[in-house]
Amino acid sequence: MPVLLSHAGGKIDAGELTRLERRAALLLRLCRQGGSELSLLLLDDPGMRQLNQRYRNQDRPTNVLAFAQQDAAGMPPEAGGRLLGDVVISLDTARREAAEEGVSLTERLTWLLIHGLLHLLGHDHEVSPAEAAIMARREDDLRQQLQTEERRKKMVQLAVNVDHVATLRQARGITEPDPVLAAGICELAGAAGIVVHLREDRRHIQDRDVLLLRQTVKSKLNLEMAATPEIIDFALDLKPDMVTLVPEKRRELTTEGGLDVHGQRKKLARVIRSMTEAKIPVSLFVDPDPNQIQTAADIGATFVEIHTGRYCDAADEAEREREFALVATAAEDALAAGLRVNAGHGLNYLTTARVAALGTIEELSIGHAIMARAILVGLEKAVREMVSIVQKEA
Ligand code: PXP
Repeated sequence: MPVLLSHAGGKIDAGELTRLERRAALLLRLCRQGGSELSLLLLDDPGMRQLNQRYRNQDRPTNVLAFAQQDAAGMPPEAGGRLLGDVVISLDTARREAAEEGVSLTERLTWLLIHGLLHLLGHDHEVSPAEAAIMARREDDLRQQLQTEERRKKMVQLAVNVDHVATLRQARGITEPDPVLAAGICELAGAAGIVVHLREDRRHIQDRDVLLLRQTVKSKLNLEMAATPEIIDFALDLKPDMVTLVPEKRRELTTEGGLDVHGQRKKLARVIRSMTEAKIPVSLFVDPDPNQIQTAADIGATFVEIHTGRYCDAADEAEREREFALVATAAEDALAAGLRVNAGHGLNYLTTARVAALGTIEELSIGHAIMARAILVGLEKAVREMVSIVQKEA
């Protein structure tokens, strides 16, 4: 085990301990210390106070202490397969600081662990303001990288777009089939989210559908929408679990391309700000284009949804490979820029598995292919089959 974890005081539950141990091992790898060992000791305040008194002559507890391993001559040992040293954390102080800062105990412990580890690797914020700034930057980088790596490992989820249930209803101008009922069946069959696009012309989903879905969806309601004043006000009142901003043209059959985030950055930044104030995370639907993705991160989007349409609609295998590579790279870029990554459009029972297997994407948003199959095999079966494709490859 690269991490020797000992718990000698202070309250912590078993799940938190496992998470901390896993994070410590991941951090060692991120610091290119995969072959090294780290001792991590968790104490209470009285235990920490004793150590602080003995080694730093300070008669009070502190949050974290780091003791680098030294050889007999007081020098760091040779690199490679070595014990880096000990990081000691007071759980009592960590818990107090977490409450003061309004963060979880996990977050606070992670910060303390990173801080201690960087001390073991030779950083010292007390040496000079310049070194303190370098260390703070490195801490931020490691926190970001840790988050990225943890997201990479999460299982991919399926969000089902039920717009086309409403398309069928609107074709007759009556009340069936009902997308609200369909959404419930999708959830029972394993969908982790429901997506609806409330279009300006209300061609399929109606206000009534979204209002009811807000009350009935148990997983997560993602409102896909254009950034127009009327729909923005609707979303702010509704408070869906998230919104996905898409470009919208009245005459298009379906959303045709990603947003021009770069060209509309001021307007989109304003919308993101108002959604963020209402605690609604925003996803921007973008083509797999590095420029758009970087701008999405710069203006504060939480997610991007990468447009998979050109990959799915490719005319031949060579084009499909090219488009797939663009999607894969875009997802990596987005993750590296600190964004959470979804993908969708045009995905079907053949094209989905590869995208799900990328390991960078949290959620796939799929509508037409599922509804087309549902007409033939039933909605529950169609959703279950897609869930198994999405999750088997994760
Ligand atoms: N994502 C976005 C942003 C969309 O506009 C759509 C279509 O409504 C989808 C995903 C789902 O696409 P499809 O119906 O082709 O699966």
